[in-house]
Amino acid sequence: MLKTKDILDEKNKILRTISKEVEFPLTEEDKKNIDLMVEYLTNSQIDELAAKYMLRPGMGMAAIQIGIPKRYITIVHEVEEGVFDTYVVINPKIVSSSKEKIYVEDGEGCLSVNRETFGIIPRYARVTVEGYDIDGNKISIRAREELAIVFQHEIDHLNGIIFVDHIDPKNPYKYKDIYRAI
Ligand code: NI
Repeated sequence: MLKTKDILDEKNKILRTISKEVEFPLTEEDKKNIDLMVEYLTNSQIDELAAKYMLRPGMGMAAIQIGIPKRYITIVHEVEEGVFDTYVVINPKIVSSSKEKIYVEDGEGCLSVNRETFGIIPRYARVTVEGYDIDGNKISIRAREELAIVFQHEIDHLNGIIFVDHIDPKNPYKYKDIYRAI
């Protein structure tokens, strides 16, 4: 089981790695890592388990956050109380996006950023993500609102980008009145 301490902190330069495309079939180790990532994200959003195992809640994780420089991401999205949609995407790519942009009003969070942050980040309101499932089948996901933001945040990690990189510390709320808050 992954613990919060297994997730790399932003100070760790490994997080700045550009992750490499994955070839199929996946290794047993990658399959195991994907299971661990999904398990962490799911448990972390269930209050009792999060408290029991001291997990910091998170919706998304990229492999590089546990030190694996490979292009895969996992997202566990709570669609209603206790009901989770799980996404595992290998070699994900945003193939189309809306003109409209939105931002998380309270600011984004990241399992690798263990401090208070300020500022907002414009993200596409809707994206289509293509990639592969764990068996190498091509998949296409249409995501909107919060889920679309999580995909953009996680794909950034594969390119060595952490959400705070997008924020201008001199003017962290400059897009507040330009785009839509969620
Ligand atoms: Ni993150």
